[in-house]
Amino acid sequence: MASSAIVTGGAGFIGSHVVDALLADGYAVTVIDDLSSGDAARVADAAELVQLDIVDLQALEAVVAQVKPRAVFHLAAQSSVVVSTQNPGRDCDVNVKGTLNVVDTAGRCGAPVVFTSTGGALYGDEAPMPTGEERIPAPLSPYGASKWAGEAYVKTWSLSSGIPHAVCRLGNVYGPRQTPHGEAGVVSIFSHCLYSDRAPKLYGHGQPTRDYVYVGDVVSALLTASGRSGTYNIATGVETDVSTVWRELSAAAGKEIEAELADLRPGELMHSCLDVGFAERELGWRPEVAIADGLRMTYTALVEEFAVRAG
Ligand SMILES: NC(=O)c1ccc[n+]([C@@H]2O[C@H](COP(=O)([O-])OP(=O)(O)OC[C@H]3O[C@@H](n4cnc5c(N)ncnc54)[C@H](O)[C@@H]3O)[C@@H](O)[C@H]2O)c1
Repeated sequence: MASSAIVTGGAGFIGSHVVDALLADGYAVTVIDDLSSGDAARVADAAELVQLDIVDLQALEAVVAQVKPRAVFHLAAQSSVVVSTQNPGRDCDVNVKGTLNVVDTAGRCGAPVVFTSTGGALYGDEAPMPTGEERIPAPLSPYGASKWAGEAYVKTWSLSSGIPHAVCRLGNVYGPRQTPHGEAGVVSIFSHCLYSDRAPKLYGHGQPTRDYVYVGDVVSALLTASGRSGTYNIATGVETDVSTVWRELSAAAGKEIEAELADLRPGELMHSCLDVGFAERELGWRPEVAIADGLRMTYTALVEEFAVRAG
């Protein structure tokens, strides 16, 4: 019988790619997702989708006890910084209480959890670049705070139970299936602008830098981290400014559209770049996809998705 795995948030951008990788590895996969920002169409037919809110402990317990997973990948989250500032209570419920529920119920089956935290929203503006995991977090948003609190529960539950739960602090993830309809996901937003011949806004006059990591590299890191206890930055260690992302995507599209320059929005960091040396040493993982290649692949895939949706 195939080993079973649970992916919370498996109808989301990154989670749906984790589901595909686990199915390819021969796992029987159960997705737990309330579809608040996810899309059932992203979930592979071979996986089972259970629609529930991870804040609802009883409902979660029933599913986890039935599946008896060998591994849990916890990606379900209130993942919008803007929503976290508008409704910090709900952000806390999902990202803190929901995470506690997941790690607690998984632990009762002895299943290791991999928790996706944030590198970008955790370290704050004063951190040295690239930032190592030892830097004490100084989040600027409720989202960063709730992820940090979620991490604390994951680590404490790991220490007290002896089950090796892992925390992966992700950089700015991009790739196929990322929606252009949020405030984040600049690669998808810019791709949609190019696809529909619209000018994007380049906040911070295009100068802010981020550590962009291709979703396929993130998936391989999450699978490698399963069964390991530790906190790992998962990114590339390469800083790329927003103007460069726009230029590369424009080249991939073969279009020249003048972008609008705007001031940085409140709460946004000027620079973010993560030191990935610890993940390389401890997990033997390293990112494989250079940003120029990743942006070209992503643009091609996203344009197909936009066309399908446009019908
Ligand atoms: N995308 C990035 O660049 C990035 C960076 C750092 C960390 N992360 C983290 O990675 C994870 C996945 O991010 P993503 O970009 O795929 O986000 P996403 O919004 O596409 O996916 C999150 C999924 O969780 C589901 N969900 C939300 N609340 C839920 C609840 N209460 N119960 C059950 N399901 C719920 C949503 O419906 C969605 O399918 C999140 O934990 C996010 O915080 C993402």
